[in-house]
Amino acid sequence: MTYILEVVKKSIAALAILIVCGTASPQTSDPWWKHALVYEIYPRSFQDSNGDGVGDLNGITSRLDYLKDLGVDAIWLSPIYPSPQVDFGYDISDYEQVDPQYGTLANFDRLEAESQKRGIRIIMDMVMNHTSDKHPWFIGSASSKTNPKRDWYVWRDGTAPGPGHPPNNWQSIFGHSAWQYDAKTGQYYYHKFYAQQPDLNWRNPEVQKAMFDSVRFWLDRGVAGFRLDAIPTLFEDPDLHDEKVLPGTNAYGDPNLDDARTNNLPEVHDVLRELRKLTDSYAGDRVLIGETYLNNIHQLEEMYGLKQDQLQLPMDMQVGFINKLDVRLFRSRIQDAESELPAGDQPLFVFDNHDNPRSIDRYGDGKHNLAIARIVAAMLFTTRATAMMYYGEELGMVTSTPQRVEDVKDPIGVTGWPKEKGRDGERTPMQWDAGKNAAFSTAAKTWLPVANDYKTVNVKVEESEKASLLNWYKFLIAERRKNPALRDGGLTMLNTDNTNVLTYVRKGTPNVIVALNFSAQPQTLSVDWKATEVWTLLTDADSLKETKSLTNLTLPAFAVWIGSAE
Ligand code: NOJ
Repeated sequence: MTYILEVVKKSIAALAILIVCGTASPQTSDPWWKHALVYEIYPRSFQDSNGDGVGDLNGITSRLDYLKDLGVDAIWLSPIYPSPQVDFGYDISDYEQVDPQYGTLANFDRLEAESQKRGIRIIMDMVMNHTSDKHPWFIGSASSKTNPKRDWYVWRDGTAPGPGHPPNNWQSIFGHSAWQYDAKTGQYYYHKFYAQQPDLNWRNPEVQKAMFDSVRFWLDRGVAGFRLDAIPTLFEDPDLHDEKVLPGTNAYGDPNLDDARTNNLPEVHDVLRELRKLTDSYAGDRVLIGETYLNNIHQLEEMYGLKQDQLQLPMDMQVGFINKLDVRLFRSRIQDAESELPAGDQPLFVFDNHDNPRSIDRYGDGKHNLAIARIVAAMLFTTRATAMMYYGEELGMVTSTPQRVEDVKDPIGVTGWPKEKGRDGERTPMQWDAGKNAAFSTAAKTWLPVANDYKTVNVKVEESEKASLLNWYKFLIAERRKNPALRDGGLTMLNTDNTNVLTYVRKGTPNVIVALNFSAQPQTLSVDWKATEVWTLLTDADSLKETKSLTNLTLPAFAVWIGSAE
């Protein structure tokens, strides 16, 4: 085996990237999604092509070369369907069209064709739990108690006539009662999210049929799969028992509640099995990805289906949303994904999305945020999981939370102000260069303001700086693709008593060793692994570039060392 090590001289920070050449991509019969990088695009915020201050499909198409260069295998498009935009697309009023703000079906087809040319697949966001209250189904349903669509939603009498007497104590995730009174028919409808997002009644078979027809519509158009929004919440207890009241109150001032009656009911799995049959009836390894915030690995395991007949990739939120750099927690959660899931269940890790403050802020300590972002990226790309990331994560884009309630666009930020300021902060426009609006848009005003740091944190600047976070991502993504141990090797945790450094091996010939210092102090360790030859693949510490041994390795504060060992 010949390795050509080329030290890339960096100009700014103490970052050394060592590039290994000579390893071709291994060819296996694995489905494409098993080794994929899925990149979430929030369409409003990625690229505006028509100068209205809102991102659109043609904008995304114009940036495909960037995504290809980064190493993206699939784009997950947050909803692009027609929508009143109360929840910025998660309130859908037509499942088989494109919102004119984002373009047309022809623009979508062009995006798909151009993506395909570059080996990039498209994954649609499918919101099956609820529709918009402006969807014709709900308009019909709300029009009278005898309308054929009445039972497509969850309607119930209150505990007493008139408003103010909801059927039970269930709450919306977005604050206050989950029941909305409808004066016209004198009943309440259930909404897990905003009142403008009435829940569909999945106990009615017509609902499943209609929704599956829309799934077919997009499969026929060639999409590679779906990210299933809020999928554990499809069903509620039909007897409407109250949720158990827990101590304390939430950001909206409501009592904390258990969610056993409204979340993760067993009936969800029946729907998932049927949906999987449908997607499996199409050629091309179509994939089902789940938005699955669950309590533990065993609940996650159920989402794959005991016969692996449900989701291929339920998101493992247990890892990416630990929200503190705690070595023990990361070790045990990554280990769970490795050993608690049956063989064949492929984990999916994700650290960032459009619903949470950006990972650089959730994990950063305010002083070493970039170094910590490099640690997060290292975990995302050197474990065995399929990787999912969010636009701008690769640049170190930060959360830019509105300072005044009158600037807030996300309704929960208004309801919950100041405790809950909403999700605008993680949805600001992509930062392409240091020009007007970071080259996101030519508009006088963009839908959300561009973050203040765009002159230094942007694609153009970071492409030109060898030591940038963008180049760190690119290196990791490329290495993961071509390095057989990173691609296929099993993972074993090493030095498991160490509470400062997370160390693991990915097995192969050669093995890959990963050591991540989660602390602000230098840490010295001897890696529990026997090797006769050791060399560095990637590190951000100058002092570790020439590492030749796993004994007495000293990692500076928050340093990453990734090496090969034979
Ligand atoms: C999860 C989505 O990610 C979030 O943005 C949305 O508000 C809710 N589901 C409701 O659809």
